Amino acid sequence: MNANVKIEGLVFDADAADQGGRGASSHGASGGSSKDASDTADARERAVSSELQEDDLALDRSLRPRYLKDYLGQTKIKESLAIMLEAAKERGETPDHILFSGPPGLGKTTLATVVANELGTNIKTTSGPAIERTGDLAAILTNLEEGDVLFIDEIHRLNRMVEEVLYPALEDYALDIVVGKGPAARSIRLDLPHFTLIGATTRTGLLTGPLRDRFGIVFRLLYYTPEELAAIVSRSASILDVPITPDGALEIARRSRGTPRLANRLLKRVRDWAQVRGDGTIDEDIAAQALSFFEVDSLGLDAMDNRVLQVLAVQFGGRPVGLTTIASALSEDPDTIEDVYEPFLMQQGLMIRTPKGRQATRRAYEHLGITPPEGI
Ligand SMILES: Nc1ncnc2c1ncn2[C@@H]1O[C@H](COP(=O)(O)OP(=O)(O)OP(=O)(O)O)[C@@H](O)[C@H]1O
Ligand SMILES: [Mg+2]
Repeated sequence: MNANVKIEGLVFDADAADQGGRGASSHGASGGSSKDASDTADARERAVSSELQEDDLALDRSLRPRYLKDYLGQTKIKESLAIMLEAAKERGETPDHILFSGPPGLGKTTLATVVANELGTNIKTTSGPAIERTGDLAAILTNLEEGDVLFIDEIHRLNRMVEEVLYPALEDYALDIVVGKGPAARSIRLDLPHFTLIGATTRTGLLTGPLRDRFGIVFRLLYYTPEELAAIVSRSASILDVPITPDGALEIARRSRGTPRLANRLLKRVRDWAQVRGDGTIDEDIAAQALSFFEVDSLGLDAMDNRVLQVLAVQFGGRPVGLTTIASALSEDPDTIEDVYEPFLMQQGLMIRTPKGRQATRRAYEHLGITPPEGI
């Protein structure tokens, strides 16, 4: 291939393509945090954060399910996927492009690798922010092999120009490039191998319409039930060779905010506690004691979550309070309160947002063990 091929006005370095291209890696773990820069480091590093943390990485490798049969919960999604993959395999075709959406830590990256394993194909992993220029994407696409899975994490962060190059690749498995300059310039169409794009996003709302429309199927991952999480905790415990009772697994599950990543992280902490303070076995008591010690309460709230509720329920007596007022009462950044703490508190029905401000609910008072004032 020509050393310099122009794509949409940008120079594409063919050498980079030969080396696998920038930003693409095989079998890479999901990189980077999807959180906005406004979140403080503290907020991201707390035990109950569902974001990927440094410490999770080693754990991820050993605990991440490789096939559908090990992927617990999300039953509906698994059934649809199994049918879709089986049908494609029988026809000898690549499956439709797939989008997984849902909050952090629910298993989107895991599902992408599961799909590739079930198909018996390679997976090339990259992410929206890693593909800065159209040439980067071209390099990745031209390096795909027939039947490969291309996984783009945080796909809502692809830039528009890159997206434009992706469209024909998804629809026709083709790459339109301009070769040469000035009057001699001509457009050629390169055929690409058939591949399946798997996109993952925590923010479906930020995906452009045209991109969303090019996915044959969209799966929304839901928070896991305590029972499903307990099964995941038990599976992880057996891989880590930690003795655990069903009640012990359920206790960890209940405090894990519906999120497998969190369940695995808490299991690791409880394991250490059980080893030092108990006989190594995790039962309900040990799990409850350990998690209380690590300040993860019965609903999975940490100390800061509880302080937010205290401010709303006690300091302001259940009256509506503005975001900046809450933030200054807690010496925290308003954006952090809004992005990190509020979503789970609202999802749990512990606080509501009204036009006049944030308010604690009756459930918040029950959780704090305080009698609510009249009218709440
Ligand atoms: N269904 C499941 N069964 C068992 N373990 C799971 C399941 N889903 C996720 N996990 C575990 O949770 C961890 C986190 O999952 P994963 O990295 O796939 O989440 P994600 O949705 O990609 O998160 P992010 O949005 O932060 O990228 C995995 O390493 C895996 O061990
Ligand atoms: Mg991921």
